[in-house]
Amino acid sequence: DGPTTSEGRRVLLAAPRGYCAGVDRAVVAVEKALELHGSPVYVRKEIVHNKHVVRTLAARGAVFVDETDEVPEGATVVFSAHGVSPAVHAAAAERSLKTIDATCPLVTKVHREAVRFAKDDYDILLVGHEGHEEVEGTAGEAPEHVQLVDGPESVDAVTVRDPEKVVWLSQTTLSVDETMQTVERLKERFPTLQDPPSDDICYATQNRQVAVKKIAPQSDLVVVVGSANSSNSVRLVEVALQHGAKASYRVDHKDELDEAWLEGVRTVGVTSGASVPEILVTDVLAWLAERGFGDVEEVRTASEDLLFSLPRELRADLKAAS
Ligand code: F3S
Repeated sequence: DGPTTSEGRRVLLAAPRGYCAGVDRAVVAVEKALELHGSPVYVRKEIVHNKHVVRTLAARGAVFVDETDEVPEGATVVFSAHGVSPAVHAAAAERSLKTIDATCPLVTKVHREAVRFAKDDYDILLVGHEGHEEVEGTAGEAPEHVQLVDGPESVDAVTVRDPEKVVWLSQTTLSVDETMQTVERLKERFPTLQDPPSDDICYATQNRQVAVKKIAPQSDLVVVVGSANSSNSVRLVEVALQHGAKASYRVDHKDELDEAWLEGVRTVGVTSGASVPEILVTDVLAWLAERGFGDVEEVRTASEDLLFSLPRELRADLKAAS
């Protein structure tokens, strides 16, 4: 039948979307480590929460492990963008591993805040998702002082030593609105609760949510490209639904799209999480174009030009090799 250019069918493509500065830096760190040291380069946990990225790096010689005790003594290991606790650094040092720390600098910033408030003996309420690697790393900076608060429903269970000396911090990839609901409930219980010195939810998470909020009210369907374990991608589906999208689904790649979703649909919103390479979005757009959704309008709500320099250890090695 050939492609159908159907009148009135369109795609609203959110911008910013996809790679953030922290993900870009972490992926390049593994690539450079492979160039410098050759295969295998070990990576603790998924370098970023995206299946495609992990598969691509594995094909080039990266070996993904769950813990440092799976890395041979003396080998090189990269720590993922989500950060690690001091205990992981210590375990790596014990095995004489050469470490490259690809923790996003914006995660490191939250670690520093945790350390500082723990030093001042605050109770730290860390708003975040139970079991997420980032939360484990941040809490690990001050396990005695940090309590996890996983959403507004968890607020009632919080206990503190001194209600006058409590601060909240957060995971970097949460829903801004839900986090504020949690914080409001916390403030009802602890009116002098201190705010973090600066936003812990990072610029990339915030920008992608603002962009999807803009396209959602006009979209019958919002497709979010991202992996299931990617916190910020999963949040984008929630935000789309809360802001007027009639339906929203997350897909890892185009093969997970379902023709049935397009029934009666005129406008499809498309966005992607901070760990998603643009090629996966391009594939989704091509799939949509084949089904009459070839008219694509980009809706941009912010420009991003942040760039982080590579991890320090790697910069030193690159300099030595040049
Ligand atoms: Fe960093 Fe935010 Fe990306 S914390 S890794 S810039 S999603």
